[in-house]
Amino acid sequence: MAAHLVLLLFPATVLLLVLVCLSAALLQWNEFRYRKKGLPPGTMGWPVVGETTEFLKHGPSFMKTQSARYGSFFKSHILGCPTIVSMDPEVNQYILMKESKGLVPGYPQSMLDILGKSNIAAVHGSSHKYMRGALNSLLNHAVIKDRLLPTIDSFMRSHLSGWEGAVVDLQEKTKEMAFLSSLKQICGTESAGFAREFMPEFFNLVLGTLSLPIDLPGTNYRRGFQARKNIVSMLRKMMEERRRSEKDHGDMLGSLMRRDEGYKYKLSDEEIIDQIITVLYSGYETVSTTSMMAVKYLHDNPVALHELRREHMEIRARKKAEDPVDWNDLKSMSFTRAVIFETSRLATVVNGVLRKATKDMELNGFAIPKGWRIYVYTREINYNPCLYPEPLAFNPWRWLEKGAESKSHNLIFGGGTRLCPGKELGIAEISTFLHYFVTRYRWEEIGGEKIVRFPRVEAPNGLHIRVSSL
Ligand code: HEM
Repeated sequence: MAAHLVLLLFPATVLLLVLVCLSAALLQWNEFRYRKKGLPPGTMGWPVVGETTEFLKHGPSFMKTQSARYGSFFKSHILGCPTIVSMDPEVNQYILMKESKGLVPGYPQSMLDILGKSNIAAVHGSSHKYMRGALNSLLNHAVIKDRLLPTIDSFMRSHLSGWEGAVVDLQEKTKEMAFLSSLKQICGTESAGFAREFMPEFFNLVLGTLSLPIDLPGTNYRRGFQARKNIVSMLRKMMEERRRSEKDHGDMLGSLMRRDEGYKYKLSDEEIIDQIITVLYSGYETVSTTSMMAVKYLHDNPVALHELRREHMEIRARKKAEDPVDWNDLKSMSFTRAVIFETSRLATVVNGVLRKATKDMELNGFAIPKGWRIYVYTREINYNPCLYPEPLAFNPWRWLEKGAESKSHNLIFGGGTRLCPGKELGIAEISTFLHYFVTRYRWEEIGGEKIVRFPRVEAPNGLHIRVSSL
């Protein structure tokens, strides 16, 4: 009987052994392929996919396990590329500052293809300096104060009107808000006429940048690339019409198209289009998700909501109903600013930034081969109990301490040569949105809706709230 059982089990045992050996060999494949003296410790996972599945599925806990095993500087293979993950605050600072030493942005190919070759993440050195200068000329304090804030104010007033008595999907509303508000800043009055046509194309473009670069019918990449073509042709048409009409436009597109002596940046039409797409893209998910999550945290923390509402009611009390939010009001919103920082910390929208080595180099005592990516993983900083006591608590007051925003570990808006140029504009948009939201409405959540926090912060089924007037 026992002999029969052995005979029966024999083929299954052999098959199992073969499978185990095959898996072990496959797991060694990447280790062997990327073997090089002096690399940091770590594992490279399966051929082709590396450890992408573990990273996307378990994200933060995968990073924690690996760093517990290998330290804060380890190798992996994620998102299609051999990658060094750096969680070391000092090394991260160094990487962000040292673009000139051969570390340039290393964003995925699909993102670069769809955002265009003059996109700011695709250029470095002197081209980056020039593009950044052009973007700064659109986003600096003086422009926000005199031109953008009045546009944002009038947009938010109308976007946030008529919500009383309705059940709204806040996720959908904040997405539309971020996109339409940017579009109005970019092309002013014309935006109303073509937003309806532009918006679905833009949403396809965003999905395309987050996909694998597989150019086949039906893939998000193909759709994203097509959306880029359609957007480029719409913008080209608008630029041609503007040139024909010779009218002055005080919006972002108008500034980028200026050819007079007073304007330093002379960009080609392709470059202008890529800058416009950059502004729309960079301010979209960051602003929409932070706005949605701020409302969520305020709902769950009535004391913070009370304090925020008090700040905005005080501003309203010194103005007439039709008076817009102006620069002085914005500067007085210190608690609102703290709410935005605390929301960005807890609901981390940008988990880290990607760089690429343009040559073989040494970093942190290890060899980094040319072409490898470096993932400056900043997310964990936001939950470090030594830097943020009770890190999982929503506590905007911690940002009111002197110098809290400018501490070197705060990389919410990046750092070094690529520090976010849209930081103040983003804060102005979210603040104005919150202003009209909390001074007009109270709201309750329909409840039970799931929020996913990795790899992107999102509510897969929407975030529905019932709104009533205050
Ligand atoms: C809550 C809002 C925002 C957050 C958290 C945020 C975060 C960031 C971070 C972390 C980076 C660094 C990327 C890197 O080093 O590779 C960055 C860069 C950038 N951001 Fe923002 N951002 C926000 C809003 C905006 C807005 C509203 C705009 C434009 C209107 C914008 C435009 C940009 C651009 C153009 C860059 C690239 C800069 C460069 O490569 O030199 N951002 N942002």
